[in-house]
Amino acid sequence: MVTVRGLSHTFEDKKRGTVRAVDDVSFEVAPGEIYGLLGPNGAGKSTALRLLATMLAPTGGSATVNGFDLVQQPQQVRRSIGFLAGETGLYARMTPRETLMFFGRLHETPEDALARRTDELITRFEMTDFADTRTDKLSTGMKQKTAIARTLVHDPPVLILDEPTSALDVPTARIIEQTVLEARRAGRCILYSTHVMEEAEYLCDRIGVIHQGKLRVSGTMSELRQATGKERLREIFLTLLGMEAA
Ligand SMILES: Nc1ncnc2c1ncn2[C@@H]1O[C@H](COP(=O)(O)OP(=O)(O)OP(=O)(O)O)[C@@H](O)[C@H]1O
Ligand SMILES: [Mg+2]
Repeated sequence: MVTVRGLSHTFEDKKRGTVRAVDDVSFEVAPGEIYGLLGPNGAGKSTALRLLATMLAPTGGSATVNGFDLVQQPQQVRRSIGFLAGETGLYARMTPRETLMFFGRLHETPEDALARRTDELITRFEMTDFADTRTDKLSTGMKQKTAIARTLVHDPPVLILDEPTSALDVPTARIIEQTVLEARRAGRCILYSTHVMEEAEYLCDRIGVIHQGKLRVSGTMSELRQATGKERLREIFLTLLGMEAA
């Protein structure tokens, strides 16, 4: 469903020179699988996810999403995904309901299905109270919920979520986790970045740890345990970064 082969992206920065944000990264995600991308700040997670969402062009390597080539078929890739970027990118003047309807129409979702789906997401994410309030008047978490609902409204086969639960309280994060698990049961393919180790341990079928643009390890929890000799993901993560766990 998602195949990544030697994917790379370098930024040319006046002060820092060449920044290898994503450096020769390869992995695969199957339908019905949740793949977690972990890494410290600046590791290259958002850049990798932006590449797969066609927001950024690769400077090397290739990838397919839902069978479509990232560079040759960007339109089809975009139609196949729901992408939650690091920054929510909502229109200030639109309400959450208008945002969902707008994005659904952009993805050519039939009107009756769209209205139904919008209502369903507003109920599920407990957005009823503020569904008709302009997004610039909402709290950070309310905006985040709106942005996540937007990525789901057209029911795409591939979800690419960059830190979906950051800024969310525990009950709301749980709703998002349940939604992701449900998407997995429906055979969706989910790519997920997070800094929350217990969330990754609980949700992800396989995990990739990225550091300085390089994928250091990629596998199931038991494969990661074997590779590092550590038990918990927090310890595994720190070991891969060359640090001792406390
Ligand atoms: N537009 C840009 N121009 C220049 N360098 C960039 C740009 N975007 C990202 N970078 C650099 O690419 C590297 C990877 O950044 P990226 O945002 O992918 O990290 P991240 O793993 O998502 O980090 P975080 O956990 O902080 O979100 C960093 O060194 C960053 O400074
Ligand atoms: Mg990021």
